[in-house]
Amino acid sequence: MKTLLTPEFPHSSRPQQSGTPQPFYRGFVVGAGVLALLLAVLLFVLLRESPDEEVRSVRAFSAVVSLDIARPVPAYSDADPEKVRLGRQLFHDVRLSVDDTVSCATCHSLNTGGVDNRVHSVGVQGQLGNINAPTVYNSGLNFVQFWDGRARTLEAQIEGPLNDPKEMGANWTLVLHKLRQDPSYPRWFSQLYAQGITADNVKDAIATFERSLHTPGSSFDQFLAGDAGAFTEQEQRGYELFLSYGCASCHQGVNLGGNMYGKMGLIGDYFADRGNITEADYGRYQRTRNLDHLYQFRVPPLRNVARTMPYFHDGSANTLEQAISVMGKYQLGRSMPEEDMAALVAFLRSLTGTYNGSPL
Ligand code: HEC
Ligand code: HEC
Repeated sequence: MKTLLTPEFPHSSRPQQSGTPQPFYRGFVVGAGVLALLLAVLLFVLLRESPDEEVRSVRAFSAVVSLDIARPVPAYSDADPEKVRLGRQLFHDVRLSVDDTVSCATCHSLNTGGVDNRVHSVGVQGQLGNINAPTVYNSGLNFVQFWDGRARTLEAQIEGPLNDPKEMGANWTLVLHKLRQDPSYPRWFSQLYAQGITADNVKDAIATFERSLHTPGSSFDQFLAGDAGAFTEQEQRGYELFLSYGCASCHQGVNLGGNMYGKMGLIGDYFADRGNITEADYGRYQRTRNLDHLYQFRVPPLRNVARTMPYFHDGSANTLEQAISVMGKYQLGRSMPEEDMAALVAFLRSLTGTYNGSPL
């Protein structure tokens, strides 16, 4: 049935496959995005060729930035540093696990890039997980949490590990009971929360702490802020290549990732080549059961990526070189000359920021 709001499709356009017509603007939105990216690259290349090189390229980068392909990580300012302090304590507290052996930090150590540097994490009783642990640094900047995006907020995310029999194997009744026995938590909580120790308040404190885990100050961010000297020539070339190869069509925004879903194996069949497909490989399909979402993952953020090896949801790449060449082959259908690879690696290394004033 036609209503006034149903868009008219010109006769020349392809007939719709499904019963419901796609919103007509979707094509425009995607088209505009691609156009903006191309324009940014073009602008950059054009301006770079002109005489006053340094000034020009900084200006060109500003053009890119204004199109929102990348933005510096903002320094974090939280209204309540006391909640951050409480959340930090809880994040490191093994009593959140069934047998007091595992804390959040076991798998997300702040000293090792917010990850455990393992292919698969080890939970209570030495149990192995089935997917690689992403970093908690800057995780508050991602649009959803987890590889398949199944948690909308950092608060909701916490239910996952706490209740997972292979991770912390606990439940709220047990955890709250243990925290209430502690000599200092009851007072600490009641100073900050009217209800004292509750599941919601534990989640609020941990999520508030996680939101404080911003890592500003990378050389890339200094460069974006206009300090041309913060970037070596090779890092700058790496960024150019990152744009011109099309990496930024997926890895974009403040976290250079974490703001959209992407299919692993857009061009080549990554999973057929790798073999041993497991449920964890299904990605977003696991959650939605929509075949269009098969092998789709939230595009991982690339901030601090030099610290978060091994790479991919399956932890299959140990080095940035390996990860980049897999990306080239399966996402872009391209192989890379050695000097491009070296420049891209240099660029990715320039994304390492600082936490509490020290480099990660
Ligand atoms: C046994 C290891 C382990 C423990 C313990 C653990 N995590 Fe994780 N964490 C993981 C793994 C593995 C994933 C990825 C799971 C997935 O995407 O399906 C993850 C994902 C996350 C994410 C999502 C990051 C992103 O970019 O999507 C956050 C945030 C996080 N964990 C915080 C926590 C907090 C807070 C705790 C403590 C309450 C915790 N984790 C305990 C292993 C662990
Ligand atoms: C079509 C979208 C897309 C393009 C283009 C793309 N990537 Fe990715 N990238 C992804 C997805 C999706 C993943 C996660 C794949 C997985 O874990 O199975 C990923 C993972 C990565 C990782 C591993 C990150 C981690 O923490 O595990 C790196 C590094 C990376 N990409 C760099 C690049 C570079 C460099 C380029 C350009 C040469 C590029 N990507 C192009 C979508 C893309």
